Amino acid sequence: MNATQKTILERYSCRDFDASPLTEEQVKTLAEAALAAPSAINRQPWHVTVVTDKALIEEMDAEGLKVVEAQDKEWHAQVLKRGGSIFYNAPCMVMIASDGSEYAATDCGILSQNVALAAQAMGLGNVICGMARLPLLSARGKEFTQKLRFPDGYVFGMAVLVGNSKSGKAPHDLDWGKVSYV
Ligand SMILES: Cc1cc2nc3c(=O)[nH]c(=O)nc-3n(C[C@H](O)[C@H](O)[C@H](O)COP(=O)(O)O)c2cc1C
Repeated sequence: MNATQKTILERYSCRDFDASPLTEEQVKTLAEAALAAPSAINRQPWHVTVVTDKALIEEMDAEGLKVVEAQDKEWHAQVLKRGGSIFYNAPCMVMIASDGSEYAATDCGILSQNVALAAQAMGLGNVICGMARLPLLSARGKEFTQKLRFPDGYVFGMAVLVGNSKSGKAPHDLDWGKVSYV
């Protein structure tokens, strides 16, 4: 098995980061992986913000949690039970803003996976995080999109949390029932 196959097969969603920050080189490598993603007609319908400001990530986490509570009490109770954080103490968030054009959702998803696999290949924990849209729906949403440097008219595309993993995890079982060979 080559190194790329190993990275793909060993990737898992990390939900227990330790607080140690990433190095500048790691952050740059994540940004590079993001920008290398393919997109329909090479439109690159995104803006990528790599957030290592822990205070900002924590503020967004707290606001996102309030949105969870307002939307669904049961979900809120579940989040509290598993640690009370929607960003799992990650020291780095790669936030992807989308221009909302046709194929942008797919393109931003592919970009997310590029970042996740680059992180995995560097031995870093990572999780693609749709819940990162929640703080943007809060009362402070506009303030956050400004702090995250969303270009005008851009909306949440996706996010990836990255950091050093505390405990590691086995990748999910492959469901071969979902494959046909014709
Ligand atoms: C588009 C997308 C959004 C996701 N959003 C979240 C999220 O907000 N929080 C989270 O903990 N995991 C999130 N995940 C991770 C999935 O829950 C995870 O990929 C799935 O359970 C399979 O587990 P694995 O990644 O460990 O193989 C997301 C994954 C994708 C692809």
